[in-house]
Amino acid sequence: MVLTGDTNSGRSAPNHQKLYLLSQNRDTEAARSSLAIFHELVKQLFSTDILDADALEDLKTKARAEGRSLKIADLGTGTACWPLEVAEILAAKNIDAQIDGYDITEEKYPLNISEKYENVGLKIWDINEPPTEDMIGQYDYVHMRLFAGVLAIRQVPLVLDHTLKLLKPGGYHDWIDITVSKGKFGVGNPNLEKALNYTAQLFEATGKDSNIPHNLESYMKGTGYNIVKSIYQDMQGSTLEMQQAMTRFSMPGCLDAIRNAMKHDRLKGVIPMADDEEVGKFIIAANEELQNGATSMIPVRRVLGQKLA
Ligand SMILES: C[S@@+](CC[C@H](N)C(=O)[O-])C[C@H]1O[C@@H](n2cnc3c(N)ncnc32)[C@H](O)[C@@H]1O
Repeated sequence: MVLTGDTNSGRSAPNHQKLYLLSQNRDTEAARSSLAIFHELVKQLFSTDILDADALEDLKTKARAEGRSLKIADLGTGTACWPLEVAEILAAKNIDAQIDGYDITEEKYPLNISEKYENVGLKIWDINEPPTEDMIGQYDYVHMRLFAGVLAIRQVPLVLDHTLKLLKPGGYHDWIDITVSKGKFGVGNPNLEKALNYTAQLFEATGKDSNIPHNLESYMKGTGYNIVKSIYQDMQGSTLEMQQAMTRFSMPGCLDAIRNAMKHDRLKGVIPMADDEEVGKFIIAANEELQNGATSMIPVRRVLGQKLA
């Protein structure tokens, strides 16, 4: 889980200081594999297309009537697993589309995708910044997920305003996120349970909303979106494999965030441990629980909003 954040000031405020709780040198392969696990898990949890099927039907009809292709954006695209799979799905359905992935960094972007996917473009954009003229009103569908640990609460309305600007009238915004503060572990995993708890506290200490999925609908309504769907998946009916996948996706990032928090005077108070040595032992014990197949249920919400026509 990525836990980056602006801890104490607005973008325009003096002494703007960013704290990156996820270590800058965190092995990209580790991040890549945990994102791949979440990608597969989302498909199972929502038993649905990664691009909402009803929205796609609506958009396909509109685009055909207007004689144009669809334009789709994925924000914070990371490894680009979402846009690449969307490209495959749409090609299989004979739907023309341009799909743009945006991220603040290209460090997780796959190489040479243009050879295989002519219609996928990977670009750099910080979603806290206003979209440029050439992006405004361009998109039929904007997807984003896993921003709970990234966006400070006070940035959420601004970012939603930016996503609204990206969309054409009648376009959709699909946001999926996890509720770190409501996660539950299977018995016998005290260290992982504590680690999740500390992570939720780190969210709060860095200005995040550790229960962002609960508030997503109201954030989106407040920006002027019409809520079309809001699906809460508490994982109660999920298989043990899915619960293990949730742990393998979420906990390496939480442990990394805890290790990093110890480097910041303002944050180390959140972790009730004496020193790095104690944290090191804690992380080894938590990793053992992880290796032993720990299961967890961390609720996920998917909200589909629509820009009024
Ligand atoms: C947890 S990852 C999710 C990646 C991808 N959405 C997925 O589900 O596989 C969050 C991504 O958001 C990107 N990110 C963080 N802050 C951002 C910002 N302000 N603007 C754009 N992307 C950002 C990170 O670089 C990272 O790739």
